[in-house]
Formats: sequence, structure tokens, C-alpha cells
Amino acid sequence: MSTTFTEETRLRAREIIARYPADRSRSALLPLLHLVQSEEGYVSPAGVEFCAEVLGLNKAQVGAVATFYTMYKRKPTGDYLVSVCTNTMCDVLGGQTVYDTLAEHLGVGHEETTADGKITLEHAECLAACDYGPVMTVNYDFFDNVEPQGALGVVQELQAGGRPMPTRGARLCTLKEMAVQLAGFADERDGAVADGGPGEPSLRGLRLAEQHGISVPGYDPKTPIRSKAEADRAAAEAKAKAEAEKPAPAPEKAPEPAKADATGTPAKADTAGNAGAAEPATPAAAGGSTAPDVKAPDDKSPQVRTAETRQPDAKTPVADAPGTKLPVDGPAPAPRDARAAEAAGAAANPPAGDGKPAGDAADAQERNLKEAEAGTDADGADPADANGTGARK
Ligand code: FES
Repeated sequence: MSTTFTEETRLRAREIIARYPADRSRSALLPLLHLVQSEEGYVSPAGVEFCAEVLGLNKAQVGAVATFYTMYKRKPTGDYLVSVCTNTMCDVLGGQTVYDTLAEHLGVGHEETTADGKITLEHAECLAACDYGPVMTVNYDFFDNVEPQGALGVVQELQAGGRPMPTRGARLCTLKEMAVQLAGFADERDGAVADGGPGEPSLRGLRLAEQHGISVPGYDPKTPIRSKAEADRAAAEAKAKAEAEKPAPAPEKAPEPAKADATGTPAKADTAGNAGAAEPATPAAAGGSTAPDVKAPDDKSPQVRTAETRQPDAKTPVADAPGTKLPVDGPAPAPRDARAAEAAGAAANPPAGDGKPAGDAADAQERNLKEAEAGTDADGADPADANGTGARK
């Protein structure tokens, strides 16, 4: 069991895991990675081991996630992570010049940290604020429309121990403090939560639409966005109201005896032999009700509808990887031995193909070259005989 992390982190890990259904605890991995980053400033090998232990995963599974997302840092990172967008929109507006100015001032390059451990610089690929370009963030808080000199001023203030105010959002915190928030815990600092509305560039499209009288038919922009619970409640109320307004079904009449028509021809019998049984004229007559088929209004949000389409029943169990399933009603999962978890994971995931090492073993490349020269693979088979039938291609 890893001993790197404090008791507080362990308690928080349990709290994070408890947010998810017991048989889907692996979903807690993303916030858990932020949590370990909040203690060490990056996702260290010990952090990977810790996440594997508390979730019953193996280290390869955790590492695969930790290396996929750029917000998880794989080496010690400074108190302040300065990210400069150099993607297309920001670049044409001067983003690269901003980056170059900061790189020269700090004497570091991409993903490098100043010698005092204070500032890490990085290129960013679109910070999702193109309408404010060029932008940079410090620990994910925005500085909009930055000029090289303005960006330099922000960095110099950080170096001097200050905490400059971002253009939008809350006041700056350290990267570790930000990681606590990203793990889903409230930041208790005074003024830590931003309360500003959207910026004018973000509302520009709305303003133009209003100016030109463009609107979505039947859409009132003041319509409140309801939660799923509220929408479900409204749908249930509408359905109950429709049921209550339905008239009671008419009592069934006894069939009248068959009569001969004016020509003396007796009335037709139905297929069951019931003389005179006539087909109902309308569905309402068949059902004994004239009420329309009222459905509850479909006022679910598009996100909820999409989610339900993908998985109609949210209670449908989704198979978890072997060795990682946790009891549905049990307490929070007990930490597992990382080696045992890794061994279970390896046993459940046999190597693909011929079981050779993936090529990073010290002698693998040399052996592969020798095999190629000899024209055979390790089994002595001709490599050109790819389909194993003996026929060369
Ligand atoms: S291109 Fe810079 S924020 Fe999108």
C-alpha cells in the first residue's frame, strides 16, 4: 500500500469513489488523478499506484488514462502553469509572439519549469476562448486579448509573489489548489468562485440575431433550463392529468340478434361464427373511449434524450473489467494490493498475437532484425506466409 499520500487525501479519495455507483467506481479515476496531483503537483508513479489501489485497477490501466489528457502532468510542475494558446485563431492574432516573449523571459521551453519551481510554461492547442484571442491561462484562469507586454507583466507579477486578477473567473490560486477544485471539492477561499456573467464577445452572436430579428420558432430565450428531475416531474404530472381527464369507458352492450335485410338475406357471420358482429367504425368505438391518445410532453433536454438513446435503461449494468467489479451495496471499496491488482489485470489481458514483447525490451529489436535476415520468425515460420497456409504471397 502506497504510503505517499496523507490521511486527508485518502479520505477525499473515499469521498470521490462514493459519488459513483459501486459497480462503476472506475469512473472516479479522473477526479482521483486530479486529487493525487493536488498533493504532489503532478501524477507521479506513486499517484498512479495509489489510484490503482483504491479502484482495484492495474497501473497500466491508470497510466493509459493519465497519459491521454494534457491536464495530468507527468513531471513536477510549477506553482503556476502558464498556458499560451498558439492554435490557429490565437496564432494569427499574435499568440506565438506572446509565447516566444514569455519563453525568452523565463528561459524555459514547452513544459519546462523555471529553476525556482515557480512557473511552468506550455503551448496550448485551443483554450476554447477563440473569441478572446490571443488568450493565455494561468492555472486554467483566463487572461484575454493578451499582448506580449501584458503577458509579460502577468508573469513578472507572479515571479514577484503577486496573484494578478484574471480577465474572467476567480482570483488565481496555485496549481495544487486548482487540482483540489478539479477533483470536485469546493474552494473555500474568499472570492474563490467567480460570479461574473458571460463576456460581450460570447454574446455577439445573440446580439446580432436579436438585431436582425432571427429567432428559433417557438423558443423563448427566457425559458429556464430545467434539471432532469424537474423535467421528469413535469412529464409525470402532465401524464397523470391526461389520465384523470380521460372519460370512463362505456359499458359493453350485448350483441343484437342477426336480422335479415330487406331482401331477406341474413346478416353475415364473422369468422368466429358470431352472427351479425359488425366491425367497429372507429378505434374509439373499439376501445370504448373517445379521448385522444394524450402523451406527456417530451420536454427532456437534448443531452438527456441522447443519453437515454445510447443507453435506454440507465440501470442496465455495464460489464466491468475482470477483477475490478465492486459489490453493489457494500461499503466503499477497500484498498487492494497494487501488485495483486496488476497481476489480475495482466492475467485477464493476455498478450495479443504471438506473445512477443512489444518491442521495447532491450534485445527485441536486435532479435527482430536477425529473424528478418534469416527470413523466419521465432517459430521458424516463413514470415511471407502470412495466412499460415504455406502459400507465399
Ligand atoms: S485558438 Fe486560441 S482559444 Fe481557440
